[in-house]
Amino acid sequence: MTALPSAPTPAASAPAPAPAPQDFVRTTLDLGDARLRPWSRADIGSPTVDALIAASTDEAIALWNPLPTADRDAATKWLEARDDAWGKGTLATFALAESTRPDTLLGALTVRWTDRADGLGMIGYWLVPAARGRGLATRATRVAADWAFRTAGVRRLELAHAVENEASCRVAERCGFPAEGVLRASYRFGDGEYHDEHLHARLWSDREQVTTDR
Ligand SMILES: CC(C)(COP(=O)(O)OP(=O)(O)OC[C@H]1O[C@@H](n2cnc3c(N)ncnc32)[C@H](O)[C@@H]1OP(=O)(O)O)[C@@H](O)C(=O)NCCC(=O)NCCS
Repeated sequence: MTALPSAPTPAASAPAPAPAPQDFVRTTLDLGDARLRPWSRADIGSPTVDALIAASTDEAIALWNPLPTADRDAATKWLEARDDAWGKGTLATFALAESTRPDTLLGALTVRWTDRADGLGMIGYWLVPAARGRGLATRATRVAADWAFRTAGVRRLELAHAVENEASCRVAERCGFPAEGVLRASYRFGDGEYHDEHLHARLWSDREQVTTDR
């Protein structure tokens, strides 16, 4: 057998490895006009529940991000599961709300571990129709991704969306998650069909990159 070449010596300028993965710790992230705040049991019985029920009926959310919050009982269970996940540190799951009117729900954003031991995470988001078209998903994703890299030891953060979802593709690109390829028939969406997805990712070592425009 031919000898394999010896492994290259790391360059002096090789980036430092990402810190060890950590639990997600309940945090509120400030976007100025809006806030990402942890979902909690305190939302049960608030106007946020009605907003969650309404969001589940929105056509785009029902297609690309189906929500199991069709009624009060379902929304309550969903909120309890989110509160519990924060307690265990396994899921960073935020409501996006107006800063001055915290009960006005704009959307949601989640960072989850895909493989915690390997520092591999996934980010996802949705906005209510009235909050779309003003760059909010972009700002929220940038802030949440920076937070996850800084505090949770995420090494690689992935973002996947159906290839037809062009708005989500733009958000990913604008947040410094370049497209890496197409996952064929990789996820069954709200229409019950498997769709191809674009896989995007941002690395811990990319975290200082300046992302442009709004
Ligand atoms: C995807 C989503 C989060 C985008 O959030 P947003 O803050 O409204 O994003 P923007 O309105 O700033 O749009 C982002 C970009 O997509 C473009 N865009 C918006 N809707 C589009 C559409 N239907 N087709 C093509 N491009 C579109 C915008 O023009 C903008 O482009 P720009 O960067 O050149 O300005 C939001 O539309 C949404 O919640 N959709 C329903 C649920 C969903 O798709 N979740 C994501 C699952 S991966």
